[in-house]
Amino acid sequence: FVWFSVTICFSQINFDENQVPDYILPEILLTQNGKKIETSSQWDSIRRPEILDMFKNHVYGDVCDDDIKIKFETTDVDDYALCGKAIRKNVAIHFINGTDTLTANLLIYIPSKHPDGPAPLFLGMNFFGNHTIHYDLSIPISDSYVRNNPGFNIFNNKGTEESRGVRESRWPVERIIDRGYGIATIYYGDIDPDFDDGFKNGLYKLTANCASKNPDKRSSISAWAYALSRAMDYFETDDDINQSQIIVFGHSRLGKVALWAGAVDKRFAIVISNDSGCGGAALSRRKFGETVKQINESFPHWFCKAFKDFNDKEDSLPLDQHMLIGLIAPRPVYVASAENDKWADPKGEYLSLFYSGPVYRLYGLQTFEQDSLPLINKPLWIGNMGYHIRSGDHDITRFDWERYLDFADNHFNKIK
Ligand code: GCU
Repeated sequence: FVWFSVTICFSQINFDENQVPDYILPEILLTQNGKKIETSSQWDSIRRPEILDMFKNHVYGDVCDDDIKIKFETTDVDDYALCGKAIRKNVAIHFINGTDTLTANLLIYIPSKHPDGPAPLFLGMNFFGNHTIHYDLSIPISDSYVRNNPGFNIFNNKGTEESRGVRESRWPVERIIDRGYGIATIYYGDIDPDFDDGFKNGLYKLTANCASKNPDKRSSISAWAYALSRAMDYFETDDDINQSQIIVFGHSRLGKVALWAGAVDKRFAIVISNDSGCGGAALSRRKFGETVKQINESFPHWFCKAFKDFNDKEDSLPLDQHMLIGLIAPRPVYVASAENDKWADPKGEYLSLFYSGPVYRLYGLQTFEQDSLPLINKPLWIGNMGYHIRSGDHDITRFDWERYLDFADNHFNKIK
């Protein structure tokens, strides 16, 4: 019986390119009134706000933050971190509503020497706690709910000393510092625990009053992205950090978050999506790998309620994910896929970039010319777009990082 139900479940998922249905994407440059957008200023004043609203209403929702005050408290500075290579800071971001507070720790490493002025910096969320990204004993362990992972010594939904550094392969901190970049992270569970709790915990606890006007707009992805923007607010106050060179990045579900944060908040200078898949860079209408229905059923809290209306009805979405990339234009965007990560639909991830081209072209930028995937391990850059499909699995590896560092160097004119 178990075998039977598993078979049924997987038989609904398509991993065959020949079975991808025909689809017509909504016109990225056609307004809701049927007006064709012809200039970048029309895009910025008419179509971009329209598309942003559509994503808020149908996909990612929004955080109603009228009742929240934010306070930054620097709780730790070490000028000799990582054997003198880096300055480490820990900034507690307090989200306050009256007597209710929520605190998330923003962990920051900045190169000790940044001769070109304040350092550019990568910002991304992590899955299992800040202390899992590096063995540095000074990184505080979060008290927030953590998903169990026996392989990482995480039991009873609690961060542990034994899980310090378990995710270091995804966070080559020293290498990033050596390349002249800072790196900062927030544990996503500090903002909203990643399970369906009816938004009783995390940030939404503090927004209850405000959100009661529109409770269906709540989603974990919008809460996580909101926190990345608050980290950006902090960077604007820190003279060691170049606030005009912040790169927001994320892997997998946190890649979806990075894309949404980058779409909403134009202060992010570069946006990077690593294996973000369905609800991230991948086109929903291709229904290849994970589908809208599948993701909504497995993770009901990630997206707003209205996204469920499109389960098995991708063709009736008034948008698709190429329009999410369009919201980032004309800023540089890099999307990466992994060959074995069929669940995330590598081709659909590439095509979102391809079909966002008309927006980048309004800004006089060159865009990808072919609608077929580039070769494996051959990064493709044109104008402000970057893409690669790497061999291997769903992961963020040194290969990925080296490409992101090169891409950032190129855009920040750091190539000497
Ligand atoms: C699941 C989910 C994906 C997500 C991934 C991750 O596989 O279906 O949408 O990207 O988890 O975050 O690791």
